[in-house]
Amino acid sequence: MTLGRAAPDVALMPSGHGGLGSIETVCLSAESEDAVGRAVACLRGGGLVGLPTETVYGLAGDATNGEAVARIFEAKGRPGFNPLICHVSDLDMTARLAVMDDVARVLAARFWPGPLTIVLPQAEGTPVHPLTTGGLATIALRQPKGIAGDIIGRLGRPLAAPSANPSGRVSATSAAQVMRGLGGRIEMILDAGPSELGLESTIVKPERDRLVLLRAGLVGRDALREATGLAVVAPDADSGIQAPGQLRSHYAPHGTVRLDATHVEPGEYLIAFGATPTASAAAAAECVNLSPSGDLREAAANLFAALARFDRPEIGRIAVAPIPQDGLGEAINDRLRRAAAPRG
Ligand code: TXA
Ligand code: MG
Repeated sequence: MTLGRAAPDVALMPSGHGGLGSIETVCLSAESEDAVGRAVACLRGGGLVGLPTETVYGLAGDATNGEAVARIFEAKGRPGFNPLICHVSDLDMTARLAVMDDVARVLAARFWPGPLTIVLPQAEGTPVHPLTTGGLATIALRQPKGIAGDIIGRLGRPLAAPSANPSGRVSATSAAQVMRGLGGRIEMILDAGPSELGLESTIVKPERDRLVLLRAGLVGRDALREATGLAVVAPDADSGIQAPGQLRSHYAPHGTVRLDATHVEPGEYLIAFGATPTASAAAAAECVNLSPSGDLREAAANLFAALARFDRPEIGRIAVAPIPQDGLGEAINDRLRRAAAPRG
């Protein structure tokens, strides 16, 4: 992202990967001697790995790398940036990412590694990229069993990993299924045979004196109640993200947001895209460019930082240049529409 009239605080991120479908996908047995090492090297370089976990296969990327996370959405063909689950290797890593209270500690001790995801407040200074968490103040965390945990431990960073299937299709529970859905879009698949459980994790969000069950799974209500002594309740409107639609108007900045702006009105703050200057851009109070080269992956990785930058009480009006609708552009435009939606 490049910034006008202010020191850049976000480095311009190069796009080192080819377009959709142009990648050779290597499938490797999880038993092979160098499986962990090769997966770690791939992930460290911003690559994507189809990773076996005990629930379903995950489409894993470095959760601290915005471009890798943008590629996850791109590979899945997701129409929006709903928040992803972050996979961790241990409690030390968890404590760097989230604020753990006694209930969270009890849940982790009782159910991790295993098919339970816990939604917690994010820790201050967390290295997780805002695209992973959909710009929310909370983060969904899970410690998976098996080779996924080994890889995360060796990498030393959390992995964002939704189920490894194209958007709208059933979750992949075998390496062959991952290859059919995502072959050509990701660098590597580790084959550990059919998933042990075959169903996504239970998602729970601890609140003061209760647990909100955001997604049912193999860790059931009774086990959660027994472990914590707390009531397990269904979500109400404000307790979590049950559907991406509920992100509507979340992360909206203080000011009003005008989309598809082909010119700038005096005093507006401009979020630009691409090399072509927006008409009367000089009238803008300040400008950030999501991607001067017009790269949608780079733009996706910079989107939340740009919105956060202009989320200041003194900023009344934000203009956003048109973003193409193809590929990741659909998700970027979806998020921008939510930022522009009327509040209330
Ligand atoms: O079993 C699983 O959980 C699989 C394997 C690969 O680990 N992963 C998975 O991840 O299903 P994913 O990213 O598809 O799960 C996303 C769901 C979102 O739809 C949302 O419901 C919930 O996790 N979620 C993520 N972050 C959240 C947050 N901060 N607050 C509430 N819900 C959140
Ligand atoms: Mg899924």
